[in-house]
Amino acid sequence: MEKPHTDAVFFHRHLLAIQGLKAAEVTALLDLADGYVEQNRRHDKKASVLRGRTVINLFFENSTRTRTSFELAGKRLGADVINMSVSSSSVKKGETLIDTAMTLNAMHPDVLVVRHPESGAVKLLADKVRCAVINGGDGSHEHPTQALLDALTIRRRKGPLEGLTVAICGDILHSRVARSNVHLLNIMGARVRVVAPRTLLPVDVDRLGAEVHHDMRTGLEDADIVMMLRLQLERMQGQFVPSVREYFRFFGLDYEKLKVARPDALIMHPGPMNRGTEIDSELADDIHRSVILDQVELGVAVRMACLDILTRDRPGNAR
Ligand code: CP
Repeated sequence: MEKPHTDAVFFHRHLLAIQGLKAAEVTALLDLADGYVEQNRRHDKKASVLRGRTVINLFFENSTRTRTSFELAGKRLGADVINMSVSSSSVKKGETLIDTAMTLNAMHPDVLVVRHPESGAVKLLADKVRCAVINGGDGSHEHPTQALLDALTIRRRKGPLEGLTVAICGDILHSRVARSNVHLLNIMGARVRVVAPRTLLPVDVDRLGAEVHHDMRTGLEDADIVMMLRLQLERMQGQFVPSVREYFRFFGLDYEKLKVARPDALIMHPGPMNRGTEIDSELADDIHRSVILDQVELGVAVRMACLDILTRDRPGNAR
């Protein structure tokens, strides 16, 4: 398969956010990722697109999916991939984020993939280094590669995103996944709803670019896609829901609540999932409705596309 000429439309040095991207740029990344899906299913998954390149994963927060898939993505494209363990690094001796970034930068990596608990921290770091930076999730701000892999999952099942109704349900307030998805879905012309109790919505929710619902019955009505989000207890200070039991009763997805969505509605979840809190366990495993493991699979292809495009030689790239 001939590769799409993605570099003709994607001129950014970093991938820090979905907000600000153009539809053509999103489409180009998704097209490129689509081409990598088959490679990942082959017996021999190796290519040499990134031969000689170095990717450093710098995660200041826990991760299973994002970190592993960036590592696989880099290795499958032939790059050297380093996973820096923050817990055993000099960060623990008081080295700042910027000093850590400058130190790694001096070793000439080609891409830094960074996850940080503070919104805006990845941009701060990107301004200080010469290499490309990919945001692996910063606080409650954005998680761009998650939105891209969600979009690829939807597109492969449903075709173009334009005109689809997507309900994003749960802890919108603390979710960088929700924010990136709302931006991407709007850019691509989908109809976006957020469904949550008032306590789990940002105060400026009206500026988010989504229809707001506080009831799953209206929020899920005729939805093509139902995206469930985890309660991010680690970012909560205080009581946001009366109890997990109460939360599941009103906002947890089960077969009963799903009845109002379209009969072929897809169930998505970025993970990690809390079964019985935001989603019924049987429904999460229902291969006729749930595409949660497809999301994980396509995450590798999307991250290959991001590494590929950001390391191409062209004006604006430091290398
Ligand atoms: N969806 C997601 O970002 O998962 P991880 O926290 O496991 O990377």
